[in-house]
Amino acid sequence: MKTIIKNGTIVNADNEQIADILIENDKISKIGDCSNIEVDKTIDASGKFVIPGGIDPHVHMHLPTPAGYSSDDFESGSKAALFGGTTTIIDFVTPEKGQSLVEAYKLRVSEAQNAHINVKFHVSPIEWLENTAAEMEELVIKYGVTSFKIYLAYKGAVGLNDDVIIKVLETAKKLGVLVTAHCENDEIINILRKKFISEGKTSPKYHALSRPAEAEVDAIRRLILFARYIETPVYIVHVSTKNGVEMIKKAQSKGLPVYAETCPHYLLLEESVYEGDFEKTGKYVLSPPLRLKKDNEALWNAISDGTVQTVGTDHCPFNLKGQKDKGINDFTKIPNGAGGIEHRMELLYTYGVEKGLISMQKIVEITSSNAAGIFRLNNKGAIKEGFDADIVIWNPQSSKTISLDNQHQNCDSNIYEGFKTKGKAETVILNGEIIIDS
Ligand code: URP
Ligand code: ZN
Ligand code: ZN
Repeated sequence: MKTIIKNGTIVNADNEQIADILIENDKISKIGDCSNIEVDKTIDASGKFVIPGGIDPHVHMHLPTPAGYSSDDFESGSKAALFGGTTTIIDFVTPEKGQSLVEAYKLRVSEAQNAHINVKFHVSPIEWLENTAAEMEELVIKYGVTSFKIYLAYKGAVGLNDDVIIKVLETAKKLGVLVTAHCENDEIINILRKKFISEGKTSPKYHALSRPAEAEVDAIRRLILFARYIETPVYIVHVSTKNGVEMIKKAQSKGLPVYAETCPHYLLLEESVYEGDFEKTGKYVLSPPLRLKKDNEALWNAISDGTVQTVGTDHCPFNLKGQKDKGINDFTKIPNGAGGIEHRMELLYTYGVEKGLISMQKIVEITSSNAAGIFRLNNKGAIKEGFDADIVIWNPQSSKTISLDNQHQNCDSNIYEGFKTKGKAETVILNGEIIIDS
């Protein structure tokens, strides 16, 4: 099968040009004049951007919680991803206590069989057992895992104490792979959770107040300290605070390999959304919580100056009815998370590019190229000869208002409902095949 994309503006993280792209089977085989080549299909991309398929390095499809699974499984969540221009996701393997990491990995791979896109995994050691180091090695060598994930919060469930964090970092260093981390100080959060519940302060607002900015900043500081002395790189997921960004920037300026990710909700939503009835506020219960305008602004600046390398979505939707409302009288029982995978590019385009905060090249960098580099997704993250034909044709003229009626995620609510957006992933090509042509 041969396809040509003609007349589009090809945007990579480091260059931009108007040229034809020839796709043969699942690869980009030529960039340049393709006028004399006979093909099966020609797509005219005049006036549109042609960008590498999005890579979302942080999603939780089919995540088990006491309130049931996150409402998108790999099938529905990956469909939503495609509509948003994302062709690769990196989800998580989280074992049960006592379960082998390798067994948990194989099980998770089987759960993802119905995904419509490319799927990779970060693997989370949640305790240190006799076999953990050997299993980490097996995952890297035999299964191609390039990253592990640790939680500094959620102790008692998946969170790790310092001695285990150090063992994971040391083992990852030996294996030459990256450790990603959820950074929040669990002890502070628990003090505040207990206090608020005992005072009858049970609404979603107290979810946010129980996870203050200092909790994130303290955990980032501690992780960077370990990384500095162990001399191994770390990747901090879903950074939400100005002070967290400043700490990361300082470490980077000293030459420490600290990578940072943020999410659209930390760029666009504020803490004030937690005021009001549960019906309105329950959907915003996610961790870390939404912050202040100054934090939104600091994160946009951190994207611009390169302190933050990636924007993931932390896609993890739960229905308001039947899931989030399990915590209507106790915020500690509300499952944490929200969806957003299909909105990542359109939100960054509308509120980043259209507002003059970032360029289209920057969008490519933070939604695709940097993740491909950091997580070693070979042949992804750029429109280049020999690379995988995961391609999005972006129509900058399209516009809409996000609503429950036009969303693709499987959820009865949407944290971006009412947001006006410009731009659309009009055509999405996955491994050389046109999957969306709208
Ligand atoms: O609230 C969130 N983010 N839920 C998903 C799990 C996590 O902490 O990333
Ligand atoms: Zn997290
Ligand atoms: Zn997450």
